[in-house]
Amino acid sequence: MNQMQIPHPASPLLPHCEPALPARAYYDPQWYADEQKTIWTNSWIYAGRVNDLAEMTMRRVEIGGQNLILVRDRDDAITAFHNTCRHRGSELCTEPEKKLSSKLISCPYHQWSYGLDGRLARTPFVSITPDFRKEDFSLFKVHVKVWNGFIYLCLADEPPDFRDVPDMGEDALDNWPMDDLVTGHTFVKTLDCNWKVFWENYNECLHCPGIHPELSAAVPIYSKGYMAPNEAPDWTPEQEAEHALREGAMTWSMNGMACGPEFAGLTPSERAAGQLFVTMVPTMFIVAHVDYVRAVSLKPIGPERTELRAEWLFAAETLAQPDFDLGNVVDFATLVMSQDGMACEMNQRGLKSRKFTQGVLMPQEFDVFRFQSWVRNRMKVA
Ligand code: FES
Ligand SMILES: [Fe+2]
Repeated sequence: MNQMQIPHPASPLLPHCEPALPARAYYDPQWYADEQKTIWTNSWIYAGRVNDLAEMTMRRVEIGGQNLILVRDRDDAITAFHNTCRHRGSELCTEPEKKLSSKLISCPYHQWSYGLDGRLARTPFVSITPDFRKEDFSLFKVHVKVWNGFIYLCLADEPPDFRDVPDMGEDALDNWPMDDLVTGHTFVKTLDCNWKVFWENYNECLHCPGIHPELSAAVPIYSKGYMAPNEAPDWTPEQEAEHALREGAMTWSMNGMACGPEFAGLTPSERAAGQLFVTMVPTMFIVAHVDYVRAVSLKPIGPERTELRAEWLFAAETLAQPDFDLGNVVDFATLVMSQDGMACEMNQRGLKSRKFTQGVLMPQEFDVFRFQSWVRNRMKVA
């Protein structure tokens, strides 16, 4: 029998169990459509790295079921618009990515063209009558924010304050040379699960001992089912923090060795921590190590389908090393993400049972509870 334990008052553990979200939240098409409007339209959503969007390029992006274009000008200015022409609504960018031959976005239907700031510039072939005011027919703008070399878009008229988005604060990655990092590897996988199943799995480590044997060996505390020492039932604030990675390991890689020089600006505690997670619900999380950074983002593509994308970011000099071993770095997290993907799909299949209407959250699932409370709040459901 499990013993009842009263955690320390500063412990994050829930003092009681909580009912989880209703099962239909994970497959009901109406719930999904509502989330597209209330959550994905009103949040800052990751749209790619600045370093991966070439100058004078436009790229199609889909957020909240909306077709958008992301545009990079010659002088590095980044703008975004709905992918619709103000004449009769044709799509402007018909390919995943397109090079711009001039500083104009030209509609492929009747060649109306717009400046890269969205202003209507030319309307060839049509006669202009006095009632037509060009300034009333600019492209529909989308809010853009660049942070640490990552581009974010928000479809809301009044976007939320970006400072509230990274859970570790806007300055969490200030000691990493984020703007300069380049993408060395990308992994994309479609998961047969609702996007919230992925986040819930991310928000607890109870599954770590069973699902992630290799990760639990690399980060010993995970083998106890905790993400941090303060999750232990007998934790007290006086306990000293231990080195997070297994003896001798420096980073998340197959052999524990760093893939290149350590970033110069890190503090001793950032070095000792082994990993820093920055969570930006609902769009992505970032894991910063001493030698590289991994960015993992999500895109819901249906009530029961989610696209997972991971990007490994390195200093250019690390990638340029003649003996650089990409596999040693990327194979580790790819294995962990594949294990998580398998767990998420298994979870999704099980919660479709007619008998399963709602789960229960246990004390260690305080972060899952926080995530579900955030969803309830956004969806305005009890
Ligand atoms: S719809 Fe774009 S120019 Fe006519
Ligand atoms: Fe996991």
